Order: sequence, then structure tokens, then C-alpha cells
Amino acid sequence: MRARQFCQWSAPVAEADTVLCVGLHLEDMAAWASQCEPFTTGSERHEASRFVHMEDAARHLAGRALARRMLCAATGHTSTAPFARSPYGKPFCPQTSMDFSISHCADMVWVALCRTTTVGIDLEQLRPLPDAAQLTSQLHPQERQSLLALPDSELEKAFFRCWTRKEAVLKACGTGLNTPLNSFCVSCKQQQDNWILAAPAPGNCAAQCTAATPDQWTSHDIAAAAAYQCSVAACAPQLEVLVHVM
Ligand SMILES: CC(C)(COP(=O)(O)OP(=O)(O)OC[C@H]1O[C@@H](n2cnc3c(N)ncnc32)[C@H](O)[C@@H]1OP(=O)(O)O)[C@@H](O)C(=O)NCCC(=O)NCCS
Repeated sequence: MRARQFCQWSAPVAEADTVLCVGLHLEDMAAWASQCEPFTTGSERHEASRFVHMEDAARHLAGRALARRMLCAATGHTSTAPFARSPYGKPFCPQTSMDFSISHCADMVWVALCRTTTVGIDLEQLRPLPDAAQLTSQLHPQERQSLLALPDSELEKAFFRCWTRKEAVLKACGTGLNTPLNSFCVSCKQQQDNWILAAPAPGNCAAQCTAATPDQWTSHDIAAAAAYQCSVAACAPQLEVLVHVM
């Protein structure tokens, strides 16, 4: 999407019992900061001004603007209160109990929004990862075993699959890397849904997330774009995942 189209675009409305996921391709990166101005706060723009690279500022502002526009569509309000951050850094809107999660990488920004429970989304651009085998030492033993059993030609892609799934769960928990990566387990196989094999303990998640077993979670992979891996997770079972890519 070109930046100036974003102003005219109508954000889709999140329905009950769904996870609404919206992805933006930032076509003209340099134009996004100014076009997002009506949908961002002074403190977000100040944060963006401290980034060395224009692209980082554009991604940060586009993520905040997209989240705000999706929240406005869901609440029917024309604006939102400034976002706050949880003690672990997850942004939230103090005005509403709806949860959202932002991920940005290269020329894509994604936001997941859920009315009823906490949600996490993560996006990575597939790229060479020569130390993938070494990085598996941080993972759950079952993840490590299944990744190291793969031929070299499949390892990097499967590692990214595992990575975005774990990050989506961590971002739904809201605790970031304070929840140990080896304290829960995801499948590394190609499967679109239900890839959580062992859920994080509720004590390791935000208070709203009481899902203790994998069947109490919704987990889903999104076909974001070629050469990207994207995963979303939410702390309630059997939610419908609706995806819009712009
Ligand atoms: C910050 C973190 C939540 C994700 O960061 P990331 O994957 O590098 O970057 P993303 O673009 O996907 O996400 C960044 C966004 O996450 C959100 N975020 C920050 N802290 C968060 C938290 N504790 N919980 C949920 N979301 C958080 C913010 O919206 C942030 O963007 P913004 O500041 O522009 O609003 C954290 O998990 C992290 O530092 N990860 C490091 C990567 C790693 O080692 N992963 C190993 C997995 S195998």
C-alpha cells in the first residue's frame, strides 16, 4: 500500500470470537511517517525521531497508526487514548480491554486485534541464518531435537517457523523474553493451525491469559507474503483468524 492511500483506507472491524490480522506492505517507506501523523501521538513521533534509520521510524509509526485505526474501527470512536506500555513493554490502549499486537520487519507491518483475549503476532523475513543449529540451544528440547533432525536445506526455514510461533506466544503472554524460551513448546512442522504443543504456565503470562493447555489457545500461521514467516497466537480456544493484506 502506498502511504497516501492509508489515510483514505477503511480499517476492517474486528468481530467477536475472531482474531483480526491486518498486514501492510509499505511501498514508499519514506512517505509513511508524515502520512501516519493524524493517527499517531506526539510521544510516538518523538520515539520515532530517535531512530537512526528512517525505515525503523516508518515501521514504528505505521504499526502504531494501524493498531489505532483498527481499534477505532472496533470501538466506533474517532481516536484512542495514548497507548501505554505494560511493565514488560507490550503496548496497550487504557481506554479498552481489547488487546492488540504489532510486528514489523523489512517492508511489512502487521497488527492482530482481539476483542476478548490477549493476542500476539510475529513476522520475520526469511534470510540466511548460518548459526541456526547453534541457536536451537535456547529452545525447548523437543523443538531442538526436531530441528536438528532436519537436513541442512530445511533447517533455516523450520527455525524461522519455530521462531515466529514462539514469539507470537510470548507477545500474547506480554512478558517478552522474561518467559524462558524453553518453558513452552511449539511444533516446527508445516501446519497452519494448532501448533502449540506445551503452553507456557499461566504464571508466566499476563493476568488475562489463563490458558494452561494447548487446546485453550488459538494458534495460526499466516501466508503474509513470499519470503516472510508470520504467526499469530491468542489465549482462547477456537477463535476464527481473519486476515487482510494490503
Ligand atoms: C520485543 C519482542 C516482544 C519482539 O521483538 P521483535 O520480534 O524483535 O520485533 P517485532 O517487530 O516483531 O515486535 C516489536 C513490537 O512488539 C511490541 N512489544 C514490545 N514489547 C512487547 C511485549 N513484552 N509483549 C508483546 N509485544 C511487545 C511493540 O509493539 C513493538 O513495536 P513498537 O515498539 O514499534 O510498538 C521481544 O520478544 C524480543 O526482544 N525478541 C527478541 C528476538 C528473539 O531473540 N527471539 C527468539 C525467538 S526463538
